[in-house]
Amino acid sequence: MDTLLPKPSLPTTILLLGAGELGRELAIAAHNLGIRVAAVDRYERAPAMQVAHESEVLSLLDGDALRRVVERFGPSYIIPEMEAIRTETLEELESEGIPVAPSAEATTLTLNREAIRRVVAEEMGIRTPAFAVAESAEALRRVCDETVGYPCMVKSLWTSSGRGQSLVTGPARLQQAWAFAAEETRPGMTQRVLAEEYIDFRSEITLLAVRERDGRITFLKPIGHRQELGAYRESWMPAAVEPAELEEAEGVSRRILHRLPGPGIFGFEFYLTGTEVIFSELSARPHDTGLVTLCSQDLSQFELHLRALLGLPIPDLRYRIPAASAVILARGDGEVVRYEGVDRAFQVETAQVRLFGKPNGYPMRRMGVALANGTTVAEARARALEAAGRVDVRLS
Ligand SMILES: Nc1ncnc2c1ncn2[C@@H]1O[C@H](COP(=O)(O)OP(=O)(O)OP(=O)(O)O)[C@@H](O)[C@H]1O
Ligand SMILES: [Mg+2]
Repeated sequence: MDTLLPKPSLPTTILLLGAGELGRELAIAAHNLGIRVAAVDRYERAPAMQVAHESEVLSLLDGDALRRVVERFGPSYIIPEMEAIRTETLEELESEGIPVAPSAEATTLTLNREAIRRVVAEEMGIRTPAFAVAESAEALRRVCDETVGYPCMVKSLWTSSGRGQSLVTGPARLQQAWAFAAEETRPGMTQRVLAEEYIDFRSEITLLAVRERDGRITFLKPIGHRQELGAYRESWMPAAVEPAELEEAEGVSRRILHRLPGPGIFGFEFYLTGTEVIFSELSARPHDTGLVTLCSQDLSQFELHLRALLGLPIPDLRYRIPAASAVILARGDGEVVRYEGVDRAFQVETAQVRLFGKPNGYPMRRMGVALANGTTVAEARARALEAAGRVDVRLS
């Protein structure tokens, strides 16, 4: 598989669709290979734009604008980095000979919660939370009463980091949950939301897998993570997972990978209940909980993604575990950002800090991440949390 992809000779040009913090790390990894980086996003001075050679501000939901930037930058690879992308245009561009990472098909399927669930749960028969899709508040009520049950999660089909997502404990909360999720509907699309069974998990993990162009798949050690309000707060490697659970998660991931073409890194999310391994969703690109790979191993998820895309060999990974990451959030009111305490964060043993350089903030916006190692996962987590807590990102 994938051997038909043209092998780009380095240096080459990549176009990042989305210029957030994950794109920024990808751009930095690309610089180390002499690659020219173009980055686009909805707003100026987005994190990856600051380290890109060229950039443009546009809505990636605008197919014509997307086509125009591809013509302008002439990339040898298009690398999606966010959800809000006009995927039909990606499919066209790929069929015209410009590869999309990992492939337009994998991107289209994974950017839409409903699409990936239909493939994984309905086509492949893999265990996911029970789910149903609704196109109105009344229909949502019906599916929750009749099939999904309570408590349940109601989600927008498109967003990430918990936007438009709510936990519904009973019918009285449904109207609000509908409005919250439906608000995220894209212009020109029918309002549709996903309701799914609430899983009372013991832990949740991200399993990163990198597939090379020859089809070889390497799994990274599992990442444990903690989320609040649907957004990641800390992650660590390795997660405490029973060998049988890991085997099952890897088996499920391999089966799903079989259905999603193309090289690159993939992040599989699973809930572990103690008796079940339940697939939730996946990213066909670097994963936010995978920021921990910046300090857990010699090749981060960003370097692995690039190597896989460009057809460069990936040797056995060398780990520096236990490792942990903890996010640094903006606090206060206002948009102007002031950073304090970075010096104190560096006093924490092994700590590193990555600030994303977002031009302005809002309360609880993710502005950076602290990374740390330890002799145990508990020590690495405690250090990363301590360092993150010492950085004060103040809004005024
Ligand atoms: N059905 C569920 N049962 C229990 N917890 C859930 C469920 N759905 C979501 N959550 C919690 O909310 C978090 C975010 O949910 P999900 O991964 O679906 O959203 P997301 O917006 O795609 O987030 P991201 O893009 O950051 O991964 C999960 O990691 C989990 O902690
Ligand atoms: Mg998720």
